[in-house]
Amino acid sequence: MSKPTVFVLGCSGSIGSATVRALSRKYSDTLNILAGTRDTASEKVASLRSLPGVTILHADMNNKEGLRDLLTGVTSLFIVTPTNGFRLAIGAAEVAKASGVKHILTVSVLTVELTDTIYGKQYGELESSVKHLQIPYTFIRLPPFVDNYWAYKRPIQQNSSFSTPADPTKPFSAVVVEDAGKAAAAIMAETEKHYGKTYKLISNRHTLNELAAAFSQALGKNVKYERISYNDCRRRLVEVVGFSEEDADGILEIYRLTDEECPMLDDPEMSHFNQITGEKPTSLKEWVNEVTPAFK
Ligand SMILES: NC(=O)c1ccc[n+]([C@@H]2O[C@H](COP(=O)([O-])OP(=O)(O)OC[C@H]3O[C@@H](n4cnc5c(N)ncnc54)[C@H](OP(=O)(O)O)[C@@H]3O)[C@@H](O)[C@H]2O)c1
Repeated sequence: MSKPTVFVLGCSGSIGSATVRALSRKYSDTLNILAGTRDTASEKVASLRSLPGVTILHADMNNKEGLRDLLTGVTSLFIVTPTNGFRLAIGAAEVAKASGVKHILTVSVLTVELTDTIYGKQYGELESSVKHLQIPYTFIRLPPFVDNYWAYKRPIQQNSSFSTPADPTKPFSAVVVEDAGKAAAAIMAETEKHYGKTYKLISNRHTLNELAAAFSQALGKNVKYERISYNDCRRRLVEVVGFSEEDADGILEIYRLTDEECPMLDDPEMSHFNQITGEKPTSLKEWVNEVTPAFK
């Protein structure tokens, strides 16, 4: 019997590449793993090319004709919603339905029900569009990524500090990208168990003071948290990091929701990762200890 084919559309990004690695590690004998990117020669997919069971393909969500051919015969399609690209993801889901894909998995956000927020509105539209297609689906709602803290590498190395506008005493949910990839892979490997399910993937919850303490302990120096104004943060996100104004405002909304102790951002339901994978999620301390050599 031929192996079922799974397809990760958006394999070059953080969640996509983590999913391809997890699929290859656990399911290369049982699944045919296709991984789509717009640039098959890019450095970002170099490490995926040699993974057992993985085939890298050129795939562009803007090219619906091309996508339709690529998706024929696919059992499970993971549409890794591109940053700024929820409409592209909706288009890809429509093509998947037309191509006969059996199951769609998509990334959503933990705050999707807050439809008066930027990300809530975007991902709300994505979730309802996918549901309306009436093919089996699974949503993974993600909180902010722990891996975003790679952006603090330089400030911690140079000034022993990092900054955001959020209150450092307020806890919030976060997910480690490798954990999200493991869960996505497990869902794609046994889709029927996950039909119609919406999961919240949370690795740990912590405060920014706890993050500073974890880095201080791991690095053996005092790492301080510095609270900056929302305006300064917005300027930095747009002018230095290169986010669109809408994305910068979406990120600031997340900081504000943390300050306001929004229960959706500090969600007590942390069991889904373990239910899906049978594993324990990564703690903040484990993540910090793993990246510490690079932060020295
Ligand atoms: N960062 C956070 O804290 C956070 C929290 C919750 C949710 N999210 C959301 O989670 C999603 C995934 O995050 P991520 O960090 O993994 O994103 P990412 O690193 O930006 O990856 C996005 C992927 O989308 C692909 N892509 C973009 N345009 C495409 C197109 N036209 N056709 C095909 N593929 C396309 C890119 O592939 P190529 O460029 O190689 O084609 C890339 O692999 C994003 O929507 C993000 O907003 C992020």
